[in-house]
Amino acid sequence: MYMWGLKIAAKVLPISKPTLFIGKDALKQLCHSVSIMGINKVLIVSDQGIVKLGFVKKLMFEFERVGVHCHVYSDVEPDPTYDHVEQGLALFRQQHCQAVVAIGGGSPIDCAKVIAACATNNKPVQRLVGLLKVWKAPAPTFVLPTTSGTGSEVTVAAVVSDPKTHAKTPVMDPKLVPIAAALDPSLMLALPAHITAQTGMDALTHAIEAYLSGNATLETDRYAIAAIRLIDENLPKAVSFGQNATARQNMALASYYAGLAFTKASLGYVHAIAHTLGAKYGTPHGLANAVVLPHVLEFSKSATQERLAVLADLLELTNSHVSDSIKAQAFIDYIRDLQGRLDLPTHFEHILHEHISELAKQSLHEARWNYPVPRYMQQHECEQLILALANPK
Ligand SMILES: [Fe+2]
Repeated sequence: MYMWGLKIAAKVLPISKPTLFIGKDALKQLCHSVSIMGINKVLIVSDQGIVKLGFVKKLMFEFERVGVHCHVYSDVEPDPTYDHVEQGLALFRQQHCQAVVAIGGGSPIDCAKVIAACATNNKPVQRLVGLLKVWKAPAPTFVLPTTSGTGSEVTVAAVVSDPKTHAKTPVMDPKLVPIAAALDPSLMLALPAHITAQTGMDALTHAIEAYLSGNATLETDRYAIAAIRLIDENLPKAVSFGQNATARQNMALASYYAGLAFTKASLGYVHAIAHTLGAKYGTPHGLANAVVLPHVLEFSKSATQERLAVLADLLELTNSHVSDSIKAQAFIDYIRDLQGRLDLPTHFEHILHEHISELAKQSLHEARWNYPVPRYMQQHECEQLILALANPK
């Protein structure tokens, strides 16, 4: 019933979209937009890496120039916890801020979205965790991503962790979608090549899983296809030539489109297994997706052949007259080839054989309750897949 409800919701509910500013003046435009909304005091949420790059200073300068006063909470860490949210919230209240502005990767953005929700709902974080628990509209939220992958700038979810159990607990509500996002390539030029590759593969996985989802619609297909096309054309360039502003901007747009696709169509087994590996071993999310993706595509190929063939045609991977089966395999081979071109690993040595059964169980539990996958996986099949991740052929 729950999955059926999600399918109906995906068909009838519109996707909320933040106002988008894109290009080299996007940061300035976002600051101007905040100012003309009558907001004159904001909490900037970020992390120490972004502070060191000078981006928080740059953002504060632009805000002050248009008459918006700033307070800064810059202690967000990867996988932010309830404690980070509480610290930022305390500063928001103490300084009587009117809006939250996130600058950084997925962690500061997720933390900011939850701070904004707590600020107006007067509830501790724990009581906002889950589906549709955000009753009142959050404080106005604006975001400036510095990575291209999570899609957090557009999604209805924000993931925060319980500091005691380290469990990742998502807050999911359409009200979490930010008011505006600035995709400014100048904020992405300093991203190291390996992080660019991993986050880019996260965006690609969002687009592919959304496209193969049982909840996909014509609208989500359009966004997924746009993202896949942009990633094919720009991710290798952004990894090899980090200063290429056009490739960076196109990757930011790809992440945004992929976010629009999966926030409605949802995800699949790649994310379920990647989340489990992240929780067990701290495997970075984008890296886990990159390694798991071709394995799950192979598993679900019998049920997704036609859709994969469309993607193969989109990227002109084969002669158009060959069978769907050959096209589908060509798309999976393309993903493996892309892994090599981006210098990503093909397996994980840190997966221990004695953990495989439990890893499979947890992955399937997450998928069962969240993801409209095209082909269901049994426990022994998931164990075989994870074993293949641990043992290269
Ligand atoms: Fe992801």
